[in-house]
Amino acid sequence: MASSSNAQWSSRWAFIMAAVGSAVGLGNIWKFPYEAGQGGGGAFVLVYLLFVFAIGMPVLIAELSLGRRGQLSPIGSMRKIAEAERKNSMWQLIGWSGVIGSFIVLSFYSVIGGWTISYMVDAATGAFTNIDKEGAGALFGSLLANEWLAIFWHAVFMGITIFIVARGVEGGLEKAVTVLMPALFVLLIVLVIYSAITADFGAALSFLFTPDFSKLTFDTVLQALGQSFFSLSLALGSIMTYGAYLTRDVNIGKSAAIIASADTGVAVLAGLAIFPIVFAYGLDLGQGPGLIFATLPIAFGQMPGGAIVGTLFFGLLVVAAVTSAISLLEPSVSYLEEKTGKDRRKIAIIMGIVIFIVGIASSLSQGDNWVSTLKIGGYDILGIKDFLTNNIMMPIGGMFTALFVGWFVSRKSMMDELAMEDSSFRVWYFLVRFVCPVAIAAVFISIMFL
Ligand code: PHE
Repeated sequence: MASSSNAQWSSRWAFIMAAVGSAVGLGNIWKFPYEAGQGGGGAFVLVYLLFVFAIGMPVLIAELSLGRRGQLSPIGSMRKIAEAERKNSMWQLIGWSGVIGSFIVLSFYSVIGGWTISYMVDAATGAFTNIDKEGAGALFGSLLANEWLAIFWHAVFMGITIFIVARGVEGGLEKAVTVLMPALFVLLIVLVIYSAITADFGAALSFLFTPDFSKLTFDTVLQALGQSFFSLSLALGSIMTYGAYLTRDVNIGKSAAIIASADTGVAVLAGLAIFPIVFAYGLDLGQGPGLIFATLPIAFGQMPGGAIVGTLFFGLLVVAAVTSAISLLEPSVSYLEEKTGKDRRKIAIIMGIVIFIVGIASSLSQGDNWVSTLKIGGYDILGIKDFLTNNIMMPIGGMFTALFVGWFVSRKSMMDELAMEDSSFRVWYFLVRFVCPVAIAAVFISIMFL
């Protein structure tokens, strides 16, 4: 991670870990399972996987190369590249949309991050011991009903994020992430095995992998598209900013394949850990954002050593969420640093506090008070922010990014940036020129007209 605008990753491995850290987060473990639950399972998962590899990965490659070519914040890089290619300066809007979008996402992501810290403490203090379905529901309900507590944990989460971004993360974070991300992976596998043995693994497998296309609506397809972008950290400036810290010798195509596979692996494992419990206890599949908070405590409460495993699991989830949150704070910080020339530390602290304050409304919207009664089209404040970014800004941002690299940046510039084998380049180029824009546009058009 960079501590100044022209900083670079210390190695290719450090970059991969930071990018995987950005990609793997609450999106995989909190969001993907509940969206799959609401979206009817197998068909959603299949469409999601298709989007990750046919649309998400090509856009991931595009964003990393734009970042490395521009060497600036997303706004600065887009402006610089558009100028170098003699194209309209309006293309910098892609950068703006990313910087604004990352601000919005972080203002609710940090709320959920706060919930995970609270659950880590609950696990450690034995609150899950022998908890049943009703108890787990009540525990989650009491966190939401206790607004000050939720805001307190939200503040703690933002505090950690600010601290890391302000320091610049070289040594500490790079090193920590290389140990902690693999640890999360191993713990997830342990959980999957536990769920497989003790809960209803068969039901989970058939729910997640037997597609029932009658359950698929255009809205769920859009949700899956947005989720594939969210999970890969696309279209919010994060990946472009990380690309700017990338040295020339890193192979972007290969790195993108590693990032996308790790990210998808974690999401699928999370599903395999959670759904057996959902089925075994007859929990509500479509309950939404509370899903992991209402399911996992039951497993931790019953397994031997559950207090330790539960504390470790939520602890690692906090780490995964923090490494994503720093990549959400980075775009606005790098832009303001570039624009004002002021001290990075000050900017990170101020932006972090502003985002925390804006986030308070998202936290309150989950409690039981007048803020939670404010709704537009059935969505509360947190839901609106999620919908606006996940279902609108990210797919559209991704579509324009693909159009830009596919049609407006010269082929030669891209070939030079990617230095891929000829055949891989051709596949990628075809995907960004045709498949990504057409598929994304088609999803939107079907929603509007069908
Ligand atoms: N990819 C992160 C996750 O899955 C969230 C994120 C989205 C981070 C966009 C940065 C940019 O949790």
